Amino acid sequence: MKTPRRTFLAGTASLVTSTLALPLSALELQKKPAPKAAPKKKKEEEEEDVSTNEDLMREHGVLNRILLIYDEAMRRIQANEKFDGAVLVKSAGLIKSFIEDYHEKLEEDHIFPRFEQSGKLVELTVNLRAQHAMGRRVTERIAATAKSGDMQTLSSSLAAFNRMYRPHEAREDTVLFPALHSLVSRHEYDAMGEEFERIERKTFGGDGFDMAVDQVTELEKQFGIYDIAQFTPAK
Ligand SMILES: [Fe+2]
Ligand SMILES: [Fe+2]
Repeated sequence: MKTPRRTFLAGTASLVTSTLALPLSALELQKKPAPKAAPKKKKEEEEEDVSTNEDLMREHGVLNRILLIYDEAMRRIQANEKFDGAVLVKSAGLIKSFIEDYHEKLEEDHIFPRFEQSGKLVELTVNLRAQHAMGRRVTERIAATAKSGDMQTLSSSLAAFNRMYRPHEAREDTVLFPALHSLVSRHEYDAMGEEFERIERKTFGGDGFDMAVDQVTELEKQFGIYDIAQFTPAK
């Protein structure tokens, strides 16, 4: 955000220099040092400029990567292939800490109420809230059955989870989040992004998204689905 303004100021200065008859005010402007931007806190400077919707949507990317682990686990159960159940227990743990207790809490506390208060997409938010609640129950079942080795219940729970969350997040990405722009001002939208950033740092003691990506990457490696080339058809 700062760079284009700096570029603009530099461009203006060179334009002034090249003018032959400079008015006094312009000369004074040249002598004066460029106004300094308000000093920012170090932490803020290090933060990325991530908008509200980008923040929520890239969190869905982490969710999607766990759905891929769940897909692969279902495939292995059906094919009677052995796998490490601990990966599923950890995946369910990441769903709980990053998606349910953080991402969905953001939606429930900061996104859904704005729609509910303005009477827009209310039926959708009612369903999304119900799915969050049901998702929590299914996650508990996934963790419990991955530990106990009840493969049949584990498989049906994974299937129920993925079947619900694909339409859930797709509807949020394509309908709910885009509609946020019609409810809040540009200023409020930006403020929400900053608030999300603060909550993320408070919740995780750092960049929670980076931590979640590192964790899901490690889980994919342990499960043997990290190499993306394996998903390219041979022809
Ligand atoms: Fe949601
Ligand atoms: Fe979501």
